[in-house]
Amino acid sequence: MPATSRRPSTDETTAAPDLPQGWSPAVTARHEARLMHLAGRFTSTRTLRRPDLLARAVRGRVVVITGASSGVGAALAGLCADAGAQVVICARSADLLEEVASEIRSRGGLVDAHCVDLGDDDQVRAFAAAVLRDHGRVDVLVHNAGKSLNRSVALSGVRPKDLHATLAANYIGPVRLTMALLPYMRARGEGHIVNVSTAGMLMPAVPRWSLYLASKAAFDWWLRCIACEIADDGIDVTSHYLGSARTKMSASDNVLTRLPSQSAEDAARGVAHSIAHRPRVGAWRPLFAVAGMSALLRGPADRLAARAYRRIPEPRLSASRALPQEDLVFGDPAELAQRCG
Ligand SMILES: NC(=O)c1ccc[n+]([C@@H]2O[C@H](COP(=O)([O-])OP(=O)(O)OC[C@H]3O[C@@H](n4cnc5c(N)ncnc54)[C@H](OP(=O)(O)O)[C@@H]3O)[C@@H](O)[C@H]2O)c1
Repeated sequence: MPATSRRPSTDETTAAPDLPQGWSPAVTARHEARLMHLAGRFTSTRTLRRPDLLARAVRGRVVVITGASSGVGAALAGLCADAGAQVVICARSADLLEEVASEIRSRGGLVDAHCVDLGDDDQVRAFAAAVLRDHGRVDVLVHNAGKSLNRSVALSGVRPKDLHATLAANYIGPVRLTMALLPYMRARGEGHIVNVSTAGMLMPAVPRWSLYLASKAAFDWWLRCIACEIADDGIDVTSHYLGSARTKMSASDNVLTRLPSQSAEDAARGVAHSIAHRPRVGAWRPLFAVAGMSALLRGPADRLAARAYRRIPEPRLSASRALPQEDLVFGDPAELAQRCG
C-alpha cells in the first residue's frame, strides 16, 4: 500500500514531538549580545519610551488582549495593567493565564483572565458576553493571539486539523470576536482595535509559511477594509507589523533564531507605542520600501524564494510533527503520475 494512502493510527497522530516552550538560554544569550541586540532593536517598530503616554491612553479603561498566556501578549498585559488599565486577557492555557494574572495582581494591577479557544465559536461568543457583562464596554481590543506554522505544502496536505486551527486562531476567531464587540464600541462612539500582525505582510512570499501568512493576511485585510467603515464611528484601527520576537512561537524556527530579534518585552513596548499613539500602521519604516520593491519585482523575488526553498531544508521539528491526519483518498500521487506517463 502506498505510504500516502495509509490511514494513520491514533498512536501515530498523537506521538508528535513537543514544541519548545521558549528560546534556549544559549540562543537567547547570542541574541542579547551587543551587536545582535542592536540589530534587533534597529529592525523593530518604534517602542514606548514614555509610560505616561500609555497611562493617558489606558488608565481606567478596559483593554482586552487575546493570546496573553505567554510571549508578547503576557508582557503587554503587564504593561497595560501597570499603566492603570482594567485588563481582560484570554488564551487556551488556564494555568499559564493564571500565572500571568497572579503576577499582575501581585503588583496591584486589575486583570480578569478567561480560558478561551478562538477556534470555538461558542467560547468566543461567551467571552464577548462575559466582558460586556463584567465591564460594560471595551475601549481597546488587541488581537494578539496567533498560531504559527512553518511547513511545506507537501507535508501539509494530509493535516486538515492544522489548516482549521491556524485559520481559526489567526482569522476566523479574531473576526468573530471583533463582530461580537464592535456594535458596543460603535454605540459608544469610541475605541481602538490593534492587530498584532507580522512583518511578513510587507515582504515577498516566503516558502513554508503559506498557511500562517495567508491567515494573518486574511485578518489584516479584513480589518483594513472595515477600518474605513468604522472610522466615522470614532473607532481607530492599527495594523502593527511585528518583526521577529523571542517567544514560544519562533523558538523552533531555525531561520528566525538566526536573524535579529527582540525580546517579548520590547515587542510588547512596540505594541504599547501603537496603543498610546494610535497610528494607522505600526511597522519598521524601511519595510515599506521592501513592500514596494516586492510588488514591483514580484517575479524575481518569487524566483529567489524558490531557490531559497530548495537550499533550506524542512525545519526538522516541523517535519517530524507532520504525521498524517487523513488518507489521501486519490491514492499515491507518484504512482498515478507514473501510470499516466
Ligand atoms: N514571535 C514572533 O517572531 C512573531 C513575529 C511576528 C508576529 N508575531 C505575532 O505576535 C503575536 C503574539 O505571538 P508570540 O510571539 O507572543 O507567541 P506565543 O508566545 O506563542 O503567543 C501566542 C498566544 O496566542 C495564544 N493562542 C494560540 N492559539 C490560540 C487559540 N486558538 N485561542 C486562543 N488563544 C490562542 C497562545 O495561548 P494558548 O496556547 O494558551 O492558547 C499564546 O498566548 C501573534 O499574533 C504572532 O502571529 C510573532
